[in-house]
Amino acid sequence: MSIKLIITKDYEELSARAAGVIARQVKEKPNSTLGLATGSSPIGLYDCLVGMEQAGELDFSQVRSVNLDEYVGLGAEHDQSYISFMKEHLFDRISIDQNNTHLPDGHAADLDAEVRRYDAVIDSMGGIDIQLLGIGHTGHIGFNEPGECFTKGTNVVELDPMTIEANARFFASEADVPRRAITMGIGSIMQAKKLLLVANGEGKAEIVYRALFGPITPAVPASALQLHQDVVVVIDEAAAKVIRERT
Ligand code: F6R
Repeated sequence: MSIKLIITKDYEELSARAAGVIARQVKEKPNSTLGLATGSSPIGLYDCLVGMEQAGELDFSQVRSVNLDEYVGLGAEHDQSYISFMKEHLFDRISIDQNNTHLPDGHAADLDAEVRRYDAVIDSMGGIDIQLLGIGHTGHIGFNEPGECFTKGTNVVELDPMTIEANARFFASEADVPRRAITMGIGSIMQAKKLLLVANGEGKAEIVYRALFGPITPAVPASALQLHQDVVVVIDEAAAKVIRERT
């Protein structure tokens, strides 16, 4: 295993350090394919990337992107869809050509065909240069909940009740959280050349410990990272609490 673990004093430093990893990738290869994530964890990192381009330090005009996931049934018209999230926090603020940004289509009538289309999109880009990940309380990466095998490509998943509860904070009520999502599989994620996981807050401390130091098992999807040859994990002190106690 090759995991480089960076523990920062707070979320601000985490965001800057993680943005630095992505910035280095884009500087080395201006037409990189970035695998992107949504959720609260990467918001600060996206703000840093926007700031770097505004300061003339970075150029996203040739970058291509593929996102991890999208809720089934939601699209650009819904403010909690992941396409809306990406436009608000990143795409509408940088020079990326939005024709080169890709997410699964939550409105696809034929989900099986959409899954195949999305795998083909990733293949057509020659794979992902760096995949950004958050981690769910269940240990999910993308929306791959416990029990998923590590070799799957894009697929349609039922969200875990714990994930529905965690994501209810973004919706009017828990009942409004979609029950299904289209997600890159763990197999797709593992094929990225480099992985970058970010996590903050004490609520993630136990699952981060289990993902990085526990047994490699489908019961903790993020434990698959231990099998990848190039992983950077950036977490704040709060998320490192259990690692500090037990290692
Ligand atoms: C988001 C995604 C999820 C989140 C995870 C953590 O595209 O695939 O795996 O990264 O649920 O979410 P936050 O950052 O909101 O705690």
